[in-house]
Amino acid sequence: MTPQLHEHLTQRLEAAVHRHLAAAQDWLPHEYVPWAQGRDYAELPWDEAQSRLPKPVRAAVALNLLTEDNLPGYHGELARIYGASEPWRAWLDRWTAEEGRHAIVLRDYLLVTRAVDPVALEADRMATVSGGFRAPDKDMLRTIAYVSLQELATRVSHRSTGRLSEDPGLDRLLTRVAMDENLHMVLYRDLTQAALEVDPAAMLRALVDEVAGFTMPGTGIPQFARRAAAVARAGIYDLRVHRDDVVLPLLRYWRVFELTDLSPEAEAARDELSAVLAELDRRVARLLSRRELVVA
Ligand SMILES: [Fe+2]
Ligand SMILES: [Fe+2]
Repeated sequence: MTPQLHEHLTQRLEAAVHRHLAAAQDWLPHEYVPWAQGRDYAELPWDEAQSRLPKPVRAAVALNLLTEDNLPGYHGELARIYGASEPWRAWLDRWTAEEGRHAIVLRDYLLVTRAVDPVALEADRMATVSGGFRAPDKDMLRTIAYVSLQELATRVSHRSTGRLSEDPGLDRLLTRVAMDENLHMVLYRDLTQAALEVDPAAMLRALVDEVAGFTMPGTGIPQFARRAAAVARAGIYDLRVHRDDVVLPLLRYWRVFELTDLSPEAEAARDELSAVLAELDRRVARLLSRRELVVA
C-alpha cells in the first residue's frame, strides 16, 4: 500500500470513528437476560429437553457465540495488520470492547435459559480460543474488504437466527447485537470506499481475493462444517443469502461496476470479479435446484 493511500485511509477512519461514536447506542447486556428463569445447575442438571430452541437455531446461536468468543484471536491479527499508530489502535480497542459484549450477553442468555449444553459449550469455547485465529494472507486492503463482508454476514446471521428462534427474548437480544454489527460494517464499508477512490486497482484486487475466498471466521470451531450445514439447511445463512444479502448489496453500494477511467490493472481485476460472481451464481443455482429436488 502506498503511503498516500495509508494517509487517506487514516483520515477516513478518523472521521468514521467520530460518526460511529455518535451513532452507537450504549446498552447493557444484563438487561437482555431473564435472570429470574435461572436455576443452579448442581440442583437441576442440564437436559436437552429443557431447551426451547429449534435444533438449527441452537446450532446457529452456538456457532455465533463461539465466533464471538474468539475475539482475542481477531484482535491479535488486526493489531498486527493495523500497526501501532492512531487512530487505528483506538478504533481496534473500541471495536474489541463492543464485540466482547456480544459474547457476554449471548452466553448469559443461553446459560440462564438452558438453551444449549453448558459443558459442551465450554469445551467448544476452550477448543476454539486455544486454536486462535490466523490470517497470514491478509494485508490492510484485504482486511477491510474481508471485514466489510464478515460484519454484514454476521448481522444477517444474528438477525435471521433471532427471527427463526421462536424466542422473543433471544430475538430482541440478537436484534440489538445485529445493530452493532451493522455499524461495524458501515465503518469498514466506508474505508473500502475510500480505498476505491484513491487506488481502485489495488482495492479491486483485494475485493476479488476476498469475495472469491470468503469463509466465516469460525472455521476453527469444532465441527464447523456440520454446524454450518445445519444453519444453511435452516435457511439462516446459506450461499444464496450470502450472495443476495451480503456480497451483491456491498458491491452495489461501492458501484464497482459503474467505476470509470480505470487503469488496465483495475479493469482486469474487475473482470475477474465478474467471473467470481458468475461462479457464485452457478453454485447458488446448483444449490437451489438440489433443494427443489428435495422438496419435489
Ligand atoms: Fe459481534
Ligand atoms: Fe462486529
